[in-house]
Amino acid sequence: MQSLLLLIVLLRVSNSLNLNGNEIISGTVWNDTDGNRIEAHATGILIDPEDQSYWWYGESKKTSNLSDHGVNCYHSKDFIHWTNQGQVLQQSQVSIPGPAGPYVLARPKVVFNLKTSLFVMWFHLDSSNYGYRYVGVATSQHPQGPFQFIHGFQPDGIPSLDMNLFEDNQNGTVKGVYLIRSCNNQYVGISQLNDDYLNTTGIISRISEPREGHAVFFRNNRYYMMTSHLTGWAPNAAELFISNSNSLIDAQWISLGNPTHSSTTFNSQSTFVLPFPSRKNPGELFYIYMGDRWNAPDLLDASYIWLPYQFYSDTNVTLPWLDKWSLDDY
Ligand code: GAL
Repeated sequence: MQSLLLLIVLLRVSNSLNLNGNEIISGTVWNDTDGNRIEAHATGILIDPEDQSYWWYGESKKTSNLSDHGVNCYHSKDFIHWTNQGQVLQQSQVSIPGPAGPYVLARPKVVFNLKTSLFVMWFHLDSSNYGYRYVGVATSQHPQGPFQFIHGFQPDGIPSLDMNLFEDNQNGTVKGVYLIRSCNNQYVGISQLNDDYLNTTGIISRISEPREGHAVFFRNNRYYMMTSHLTGWAPNAAELFISNSNSLIDAQWISLGNPTHSSTTFNSQSTFVLPFPSRKNPGELFYIYMGDRWNAPDLLDASYIWLPYQFYSDTNVTLPWLDKWSLDDY
């Protein structure tokens, strides 16, 4: 009996610390420190403004019942072991004029506003048939929530679907925070957020073709935008863009093609790119692609694909498949 108990305890411990162990193994089940499957899809990462730890926000378990859907949050000091913080924004908190809930709450992203000292979450807020095309905004005094729903609207008066936030943080100075979104699934629009990060201030740059799964990052005086094409839950070929200058205002976007050379982007869709401090070259950053393997139609089995980009020059960029990799090797 005692040895059975010991075995159960050991299995539980190895489950909580392992499965992704100290290595990142894409497309497998990743467990939190309680040994439960991590449910935080369409990931957004916030770096804690005080201690630089990591907050992972994402869509809760992709059940068939929208009423369960909300925003989940996990916390980690080492980017490998994640502690569940629960559902930090719940379906029942969201109310907007127009169609009644439950709503689609998708692609949540959180940034910290230094002026208001609030953590501000934006997400794609929609009716179940994706006809409403809103963003939702919620705030909290703490990264672990709970978040209070503030409002839902169409940014700059334009119907909005897939979206992301980009904090333009250059060496610790925030130059601005931007909304990137699919404008009515016709083109990609970028707008700067206003001072309190609760609204947008008009489109400053666009990609004239429809793309989604947008993930913007800054490297070597250029902005990059990872995108997908529009095929619903089914994966398609990613497309990476580079800006023509070091400003997002009036930025033109030049296609660098598909850095994965995989027509399904390794069966994933982009959601975020995280600049990460290099351990091999202290003082430098490397860039982690974060994507969702939606695994449709079995969304309950959706998993995560995290892979480092390889830069040979500013415009020669690849995202090679790796069965597993370690933060220590970059
Ligand atoms: C995709 C989008 C996903 C999800 C899906 C639903 O285009 O990127 O976030 O909304 O459609 O079909």
